[in-house]
Amino acid sequence: MIEVTALTVRFAGVTPIDDVSVVFPGGTCGLIGPNGAGKTTFFNVLSGFVRPAAGTVTAFGENLLKMADYRRARWGLRRTFQTEMAVEQLSIFDNVAMIHEHSGAKRSARRDDVLSAIEFVGLNANPSSKVGRLGARERRLVEVARAVVGRPRVVLLDEPAAGLPDEETGHLSAVIKQIPERYGALVILVDHDMALVSACCETTAVLDFGKLIASGPTAEVLRNEHVIRAYLGTEEEL
Ligand SMILES: Nc1ncnc2c1ncn2[C@@H]1O[C@H](COP(=O)(O)OP(=O)(O)OP(=O)(O)O)[C@@H](O)[C@H]1O
Ligand SMILES: [Mg+2]
Repeated sequence: MIEVTALTVRFAGVTPIDDVSVVFPGGTCGLIGPNGAGKTTFFNVLSGFVRPAAGTVTAFGENLLKMADYRRARWGLRRTFQTEMAVEQLSIFDNVAMIHEHSGAKRSARRDDVLSAIEFVGLNANPSSKVGRLGARERRLVEVARAVVGRPRVVLLDEPAAGLPDEETGHLSAVIKQIPERYGALVILVDHDMALVSACCETTAVLDFGKLIASGPTAEVLRNEHVIRAYLGTEEEL
Protein backbone atom coordinates (compact mmCIF):
# COMPACT_ATOMS: atom_id res chain seq x y z
CA MET A 1 0.00 0.00 0.00
CA ILE A 2 1.14 3.55 -0.75
CA GLU A 3 -0.30 6.34 1.35
CA VAL A 4 0.05 9.92 0.16
CA THR A 5 -0.88 12.66 2.61
CA ALA A 6 -1.30 16.38 1.87
CA LEU A 7 1.29 16.29 -0.92
CA THR A 8 2.08 19.62 -2.57
CA VAL A 9 4.64 20.40 -5.26
CA ARG A 10 5.40 23.94 -6.36
CA PHE A 11 7.42 25.14 -9.30
CA ALA A 12 7.75 28.87 -10.03
CA GLY A 13 4.16 30.00 -10.38
CA VAL A 14 2.73 26.49 -10.87
CA THR A 15 1.34 24.02 -8.33
CA PRO A 16 1.36 20.76 -10.31
CA ILE A 17 0.37 18.81 -7.16
CA ASP A 18 -1.92 20.63 -4.79
CA ASP A 19 -2.65 19.12 -1.36
CA VAL A 20 -3.24 15.59 -2.64
CA SER A 21 -4.12 12.79 -0.20
CA VAL A 22 -4.73 9.40 -1.74
CA VAL A 23 -4.16 5.71 -1.09
CA PHE A 24 -2.96 3.18 -3.67
CA PRO A 25 -4.13 -0.03 -2.01
CA GLY A 26 -2.19 -2.64 -4.00
CA GLY A 27 -2.32 -4.68 -7.19
CA THR A 28 -2.35 -2.50 -10.30
CA CYS A 29 -3.68 0.99 -9.58
CA GLY A 30 -4.57 3.54 -12.25
CA LEU A 31 -3.58 7.21 -12.16
CA ILE A 32 -5.26 9.26 -14.83
CA GLY A 33 -6.00 12.88 -15.70
CA PRO A 34 -5.79 15.31 -18.62
CA ASN A 35 -2.46 16.61 -19.99
CA GLY A 36 -0.59 18.67 -17.39
CA ALA A 37 -2.64 17.21 -14.50
CA GLY A 38 0.51 16.35 -12.50
CA LYS A 39 0.81 12.60 -13.10
CA THR A 40 4.46 12.56 -14.19
CA THR A 41 5.31 15.09 -11.47
CA PHE A 42 3.84 12.64 -8.95
CA PHE A 43 6.11 9.88 -10.30
CA ASN A 44 9.02 12.31 -10.08
CA VAL A 45 8.26 12.84 -6.39
CA LEU A 46 8.17 9.09 -5.76
CA SER A 47 11.44 8.50 -7.57
CA GLY A 48 13.15 11.50 -5.95
CA PHE A 49 13.63 13.81 -8.96
CA VAL A 50 11.28 16.37 -7.47
CA ARG A 51 11.23 17.43 -3.83
CA PRO A 52 7.74 18.32 -2.65
CA ALA A 53 6.98 21.52 -0.74
CA ALA A 54 4.84 19.57 1.76
CA GLY A 55 3.30 16.19 2.47
CA THR A 56 4.32 12.61 3.09
CA VAL A 57 4.48 9.40 1.07
CA THR A 58 4.57 6.07 2.89
CA ALA A 59 5.18 2.91 0.88
CA PHE A 60 4.68 -0.39 2.72
CA GLY A 61 5.17 1.45 6.00
CA GLU A 62 8.39 3.21 4.96
CA ASN A 63 8.75 6.95 4.63
CA LEU A 64 9.76 7.13 0.97
CA LEU A 65 10.60 10.83 0.93
CA LYS A 66 13.20 10.38 3.69
CA MET A 67 15.02 7.76 1.62
CA ALA A 68 17.97 8.95 -0.53
CA ASP A 69 17.26 8.66 -4.29
CA TYR A 70 19.81 5.91 -4.90
CA ARG A 71 18.39 3.88 -2.02
CA ARG A 72 14.91 3.97 -3.54
CA ALA A 73 16.10 1.85 -6.47
CA ARG A 74 17.72 -0.66 -4.13
CA TRP A 75 14.60 -0.65 -1.99
CA GLY A 76 12.58 -1.71 -5.05
CA LEU A 77 11.23 1.43 -6.70
CA ARG A 78 11.14 1.13 -10.50
CA ARG A 79 9.72 3.31 -13.21
CA THR A 80 9.36 3.75 -16.91
CA PHE A 81 9.44 7.15 -18.57
CA GLN A 82 7.19 8.81 -21.13
CA THR A 83 10.17 8.68 -23.46
CA GLU A 84 12.01 5.41 -23.92
CA MET A 85 15.18 5.07 -21.86
CA ALA A 86 16.68 1.88 -23.29
CA VAL A 87 20.03 2.34 -25.05
CA GLU A 88 19.64 1.52 -28.74
CA GLN A 89 23.23 0.36 -29.27
CA LEU A 90 23.01 -2.19 -26.46
CA SER A 91 21.33 -5.58 -26.51
CA ILE A 92 18.00 -6.30 -24.84
CA PHE A 93 19.88 -8.34 -22.23
CA ASP A 94 22.34 -5.55 -21.38
CA ASN A 95 19.59 -2.96 -21.18
CA VAL A 96 17.74 -5.02 -18.60
CA ALA A 97 20.93 -6.11 -16.79
CA MET A 98 21.90 -2.45 -16.35
CA ILE A 99 18.88 -1.90 -14.13
CA HIS A 100 19.49 -5.16 -12.25
CA GLU A 101 22.93 -3.86 -11.29
CA HIS A 102 21.37 -1.01 -9.31
CA SER A 103 18.53 -3.06 -7.92
CA GLY A 104 20.25 -4.57 -4.92
CA ALA A 105 19.38 -8.06 -6.16
CA LYS A 106 22.12 -10.69 -5.97
CA ARG A 107 24.78 -10.47 -8.66
CA SER A 108 24.83 -14.25 -8.99
CA ALA A 109 21.13 -14.19 -9.89
CA ARG A 110 21.57 -11.54 -12.59
CA ARG A 111 21.51 -13.77 -15.63
CA ASP A 112 18.45 -15.72 -14.47
CA ASP A 113 16.62 -12.61 -13.28
CA VAL A 114 17.26 -10.76 -16.56
CA LEU A 115 16.22 -13.68 -18.76
CA SER A 116 13.13 -14.28 -16.68
CA ALA A 117 12.08 -10.61 -16.94
CA ILE A 118 12.53 -10.78 -20.73
CA GLU A 119 10.52 -13.98 -20.83
CA PHE A 120 7.85 -12.50 -18.52
CA VAL A 121 7.08 -9.57 -20.84
CA GLY A 122 6.77 -11.98 -23.77
CA LEU A 123 9.62 -10.63 -25.89
CA ASN A 124 10.20 -13.16 -28.62
CA ALA A 125 13.36 -11.50 -29.88
CA ASN A 126 16.81 -12.94 -29.12
CA PRO A 127 18.10 -11.31 -25.86
CA SER A 128 21.33 -10.44 -27.66
CA SER A 129 19.53 -8.36 -30.35
CA LYS A 130 20.24 -4.64 -30.25
CA VAL A 131 17.30 -2.55 -29.01
CA GLY A 132 17.79 -0.20 -31.98
CA ARG A 133 16.62 -2.97 -34.30
CA LEU A 134 13.32 -3.54 -32.51
CA GLY A 135 9.88 -2.22 -33.43
CA ALA A 136 7.76 0.07 -31.20
CA ARG A 137 5.90 -2.79 -29.52
CA GLU A 138 9.07 -4.69 -28.57
CA ARG A 139 10.75 -1.54 -27.31
CA ARG A 140 7.83 -0.90 -24.99
CA LEU A 141 8.20 -4.43 -23.66
CA VAL A 142 11.91 -3.82 -23.03
CA GLU A 143 10.95 -0.79 -20.93
CA VAL A 144 8.57 -2.96 -18.90
CA ALA A 145 11.23 -5.69 -18.48
CA ARG A 146 13.58 -3.01 -17.11
CA ALA A 147 10.87 -1.97 -14.66
CA VAL A 148 10.29 -5.44 -13.22
CA VAL A 149 13.78 -6.95 -13.09
CA GLY A 150 15.32 -7.67 -9.68
CA ARG A 151 13.03 -7.33 -6.71
CA PRO A 152 10.56 -4.57 -7.49
CA ARG A 153 8.17 -3.41 -4.78
CA VAL A 154 6.67 -0.42 -6.55
CA VAL A 155 6.50 -0.22 -10.36
CA LEU A 156 5.55 3.13 -11.90
CA LEU A 157 4.51 2.93 -15.55
CA ASP A 158 4.24 6.30 -17.32
CA GLU A 159 2.14 5.87 -20.46
CA PRO A 160 3.56 2.46 -21.46
CA ALA A 161 1.03 2.17 -24.31
CA ALA A 162 1.58 5.63 -25.80
CA GLY A 163 2.08 5.46 -29.54
CA LEU A 164 1.03 1.82 -29.82
CA PRO A 165 -1.88 0.90 -32.09
CA ASP A 166 -4.91 -0.50 -30.20
CA GLU A 167 -4.40 -4.05 -31.43
CA GLU A 168 -0.97 -4.11 -29.80
CA THR A 169 -2.03 -2.97 -26.33
CA GLY A 170 -3.85 -6.26 -25.57
CA HIS A 171 -0.61 -8.12 -24.88
CA LEU A 172 0.82 -5.22 -22.87
CA SER A 173 -2.33 -5.15 -20.78
CA ALA A 174 -2.01 -8.87 -19.98
CA VAL A 175 1.62 -8.35 -18.93
CA ILE A 176 0.88 -5.34 -16.71
CA LYS A 177 -1.94 -7.19 -14.97
CA GLN A 178 0.38 -10.05 -14.07
CA ILE A 179 3.11 -7.90 -12.43
CA PRO A 180 1.60 -7.85 -8.90
CA GLU A 181 1.15 -11.61 -8.77
CA ARG A 182 4.44 -12.55 -10.41
CA TYR A 183 6.66 -10.03 -8.63
CA GLY A 184 4.62 -9.10 -5.55
CA ALA A 185 4.90 -5.44 -6.53
CA LEU A 186 2.37 -2.63 -6.43
CA VAL A 187 1.94 -1.10 -9.89
CA ILE A 188 0.78 2.44 -10.64
CA LEU A 189 -0.27 2.78 -14.26
CA VAL A 190 -0.53 6.22 -15.87
CA ASP A 191 -2.14 6.13 -19.29
CA HIS A 192 -4.57 8.05 -21.46
CA ASP A 193 -5.94 4.79 -22.89
CA MET A 194 -9.03 4.19 -20.75
CA ALA A 195 -9.54 0.71 -22.19
CA LEU A 196 -6.07 -0.22 -20.90
CA VAL A 197 -6.68 1.35 -17.48
CA SER A 198 -10.07 -0.40 -17.18
CA ALA A 199 -8.57 -3.73 -18.18
CA CYS A 200 -5.62 -3.53 -15.75
CA CYS A 201 -6.71 -1.53 -12.72
CA GLU A 202 -9.17 -2.39 -9.97
CA THR A 203 -8.78 1.08 -8.49
CA THR A 204 -8.03 4.39 -10.13
CA ALA A 205 -7.21 7.90 -8.89
CA VAL A 206 -7.81 11.01 -11.01
CA LEU A 207 -5.81 14.23 -10.98
CA ASP A 208 -6.92 17.45 -12.63
CA PHE A 209 -4.75 20.60 -12.44
CA GLY A 210 -2.89 19.09 -9.50
CA LYS A 211 -6.01 18.27 -7.47
CA LEU A 212 -7.33 14.81 -6.70
CA ILE A 213 -10.87 14.80 -8.10
CA ALA A 214 -11.79 11.13 -7.62
CA SER A 215 -10.42 7.78 -6.48
CA GLY A 216 -11.89 4.35 -5.93
CA PRO A 217 -13.01 1.34 -7.98
CA THR A 218 -12.13 2.04 -11.63
CA ALA A 219 -15.61 1.48 -13.08
CA GLU A 220 -17.15 3.92 -10.59
CA VAL A 221 -14.43 6.51 -11.10
CA LEU A 222 -14.85 6.44 -14.87
CA ARG A 223 -18.59 7.10 -14.43
CA ASN A 224 -17.98 10.03 -12.06
CA GLU A 225 -19.31 13.24 -13.58
CA HIS A 226 -16.35 15.38 -12.39
CA VAL A 227 -14.02 12.96 -14.13
CA ILE A 228 -16.01 13.01 -17.35
CA ARG A 229 -16.09 16.81 -17.29
CA ALA A 230 -12.35 17.05 -16.58
CA TYR A 231 -11.70 14.96 -19.67
CA LEU A 232 -14.02 17.09 -21.74
CA GLY A 233 -12.13 20.14 -20.49
CA THR A 234 -15.09 21.90 -18.89
CA GLU A 235 -14.48 21.10 -15.22
CA GLU A 236 -15.16 24.13 -13.00
CA GLU A 237 -13.41 24.79 -9.69
CA LEU A 238 -14.60 22.16 -7.21
N1 LIG B 1 10.34 21.05 -14.04
C1 LIG B 1 9.21 21.78 -14.18
N2 LIG B 1 9.23 23.12 -14.00
C2 LIG B 1 8.10 23.86 -14.11
N3 LIG B 1 6.88 23.33 -14.40
C3 LIG B 1 6.81 22.01 -14.60
C4 LIG B 1 7.96 21.15 -14.50
N4 LIG B 1 7.56 19.87 -14.75
C5 LIG B 1 6.23 19.93 -14.98
N5 LIG B 1 5.77 21.21 -14.89
C6 LIG B 1 4.37 21.65 -15.03
O1 LIG B 1 3.63 20.91 -14.07
C7 LIG B 1 2.35 20.61 -14.60
C8 LIG B 1 2.11 19.10 -14.54
O2 LIG B 1 2.95 18.45 -15.49
P1 LIG B 1 3.06 16.86 -15.61
O3 LIG B 1 4.14 16.59 -16.57
O4 LIG B 1 3.20 16.29 -14.23
O5 LIG B 1 1.65 16.47 -16.20
P2 LIG B 1 1.10 15.05 -16.72
O6 LIG B 1 -0.17 14.81 -15.96
O7 LIG B 1 2.15 14.03 -16.66
O8 LIG B 1 0.71 15.39 -18.24
P3 LIG B 1 0.80 14.46 -19.58
O9 LIG B 1 -0.45 13.63 -19.59
O10 LIG B 1 0.79 15.48 -20.68
O11 LIG B 1 2.06 13.67 -19.53
C9 LIG B 1 2.29 21.21 -16.01
O12 LIG B 1 1.70 22.47 -15.92
C10 LIG B 1 3.76 21.31 -16.37
O13 LIG B 1 3.95 22.35 -17.31
MG1 LIG C 1 3.13 12.92 -18.02
